[in-house]
Amino acid sequence: MTSKAFIRGVGSYLPARVLTNEQLAKTVDTSDEWIRERTGITQRHIAAEGQNTSDLGYRAAVEALADANMDASEIDLIVLATSTPDLTFPSTATMIQELLGVRSGAAFDVQAVCAGFVYALSIADAMIQTGKGKNVLVIGAETFSRILDWNDRGTCVLFGDGAGAMVLSSTPSTDKGAGEGILNTFIRSDGRHKDLLYVDGGPSSTQTVGKLRMVGNQVFRHAVKELSDSMVQCAKGVNIEISDIDWFVPHQANQRILEAVAKRLDLRRGQVVSTVAYHANTSAASIPLALDTAIRDGRIKRGHKVMLEAFGGGFTWGAALLDY
Ligand code: ACO
Repeated sequence: MTSKAFIRGVGSYLPARVLTNEQLAKTVDTSDEWIRERTGITQRHIAAEGQNTSDLGYRAAVEALADANMDASEIDLIVLATSTPDLTFPSTATMIQELLGVRSGAAFDVQAVCAGFVYALSIADAMIQTGKGKNVLVIGAETFSRILDWNDRGTCVLFGDGAGAMVLSSTPSTDKGAGEGILNTFIRSDGRHKDLLYVDGGPSSTQTVGKLRMVGNQVFRHAVKELSDSMVQCAKGVNIEISDIDWFVPHQANQRILEAVAKRLDLRRGQVVSTVAYHANTSAASIPLALDTAIRDGRIKRGHKVMLEAFGGGFTWGAALLDY
């Protein structure tokens, strides 16, 4: 027997410190105008000293549980998408499990860089469908500020820190008008493009953490194509037309990517949720952060069909179609 993964709650957390483009331009050879024109970004949030990915993820999880009106003790699986774990091991998911006081079930990390949240959702959906999880906390949390080369203006201006979370359950939400939950997910990767987007360190290779490296314009080209294709595949898999979808919540990397994808699929500008101006690219956290923003401000309502889509290092990419 298969169960559905219903969406019970969504939450997010941003660290308090805001770093504007103007502030950044005082220490990096860049300008507010260049960053805004090329990316749409105006500011990013930066985690405080001593504030780690587990702290951000924990706070987003608490918000999502409150939104779901559920207690942490009901959670039997935690799937955390992150590329900036607190430590090489144990997983940051187990640290969040401990912070929440969860004493049952399992917790693990998923590493698919900016596509991580879609990967984590896909796994959580499969676990619920096969009866291996009942109430699953899916989290995207990142402290990308810690792996940036602050002397590389081509990358350091693009990223920020944050976290978002979703509670999925085999039991439907009692919210008025709540939808059918996850309708479909689609994930893909292609390891040939490793050199276009990577971190130049790791425990096995260099015994260092490393810094993010990216050939931005080439990543851009691949992202536009794969994002568009994955949304089409994800919708087609459940016989839904792109034109039947209410909202699109993309990974927030660059406003120009959002617009190029929207043009390719003939989406209306108002249908695409964009938070990149305020959050910058928070990697695996960007989708749940944007989703939570649009739910809180009343745009996305229960029963709306929502397409999530992401592209990241690997390359990895994918989409998830929700009936919220
Ligand atoms: N300020 C001022 N000038 C800059 C800056 C900066 N911050 N960064 C680069 N430049 C300069 C370059 O040096 C170059 O100068 P030159 O022509 O004299 O050599 C010029 O601007 C153009 O550089 P490009 O890299 O060609 O600029 P582009 O228009 O491609 O924009 C950007 C760069 C914003 C990085 C863009 O390519 C992009 O967003 N790419 C996609 C990134 C992305 O989507 N990543 C998603 C996945 S992230 C993940 O998975 C972790």
